[in-house]
Amino acid sequence: MEQRSLEGEVAVITGATSGIGRACAEALVGAGMRVVCGGRREERLSELRTTLGEHSVATVKMDVRSPTDATRLVETALSAFGRLDALIANAGVGAYGSILDHSDDTLATMIDTNVSGTVWPIRAAVPPMLEAGRGGDIVIVSSVAGLRGGADEAVYAATKFAQVGLAGALDRELAPRGIRVTTLCPAGTRTEFAMGKGRTPDMPALATMLDPKDVAGAALTVLRQPRRMRTQLWSMWSMSEVG
Ligand SMILES: NC(=O)c1ccc[n+]([C@@H]2O[C@H](COP(=O)([O-])OP(=O)(O)OC[C@H]3O[C@@H](n4cnc5c(N)ncnc54)[C@H](OP(=O)(O)O)[C@@H]3O)[C@@H](O)[C@H]2O)c1
Repeated sequence: MEQRSLEGEVAVITGATSGIGRACAEALVGAGMRVVCGGRREERLSELRTTLGEHSVATVKMDVRSPTDATRLVETALSAFGRLDALIANAGVGAYGSILDHSDDTLATMIDTNVSGTVWPIRAAVPPMLEAGRGGDIVIVSSVAGLRGGADEAVYAATKFAQVGLAGALDRELAPRGIRVTTLCPAGTRTEFAMGKGRTPDMPALATMLDPKDVAGAALTVLRQPRRMRTQLWSMWSMSEVG
């Protein structure tokens, strides 16, 4: 497939301090992009700047549940690097177990982080993309749980279905104006996700899950697609997981 060069383009990434988001930061910088990385953990953000280089990476300590923080993330892309071409809406949390057993706070945090935390960065990113008139990409990291919910993940699945619904509607709204909205739906991925909330670092299943680099590679492929086309929904599985 013909591939667009991403040299000099700029992306903002939510949840860049670990796992899939961090792998996306590495992949995009490796492809010549400059990235603004968001997350709450300051020491991880600082490590990202050191490792990937301050000429390519700016960081914003931010909470995706805050519309003001989402605006600061996008404004940093414009002030530090002068443009915005892509948003990777990746930040998310999960907890496994019966809907009856979770605390109210756990469920509310999951809904707010995964749903509002996807909406606010999109609302902040779209206006500058439209204004620049160069087109743009919104890549949402949902999950296979957003296509088919499994037992013990009902509310998590609901938040991931919400992302798929949001993306489908936005695609229809924004494609005519040059902005592609793509949803990545990975299956189990070897990250810090849900550690202590259903997963443990020593669980054997981790070894055969997708690598965060696999998901980042998909995000990179999406951005590199020629602007005349779009792919809307990717479902991604490791070879050992049967969906
Ligand atoms: N791992 C899997 O099996 C899997 C499978 C399918 C889909 N996913 C999805 O992939 C995405 C990334 O997860 P991951 O697997 O890479 O897990 P991870 O390593 O735990 O990363 C989650 C990221 O989200 C950020 N985050 C969480 N709450 C936040 C908040 N309120 N404000 C800002 N940032 C916040 C975290 O940063 P801070 O803690 O620094 O804020 C972290 O960078 C999630 O949306 C998840 O649902 C994961």
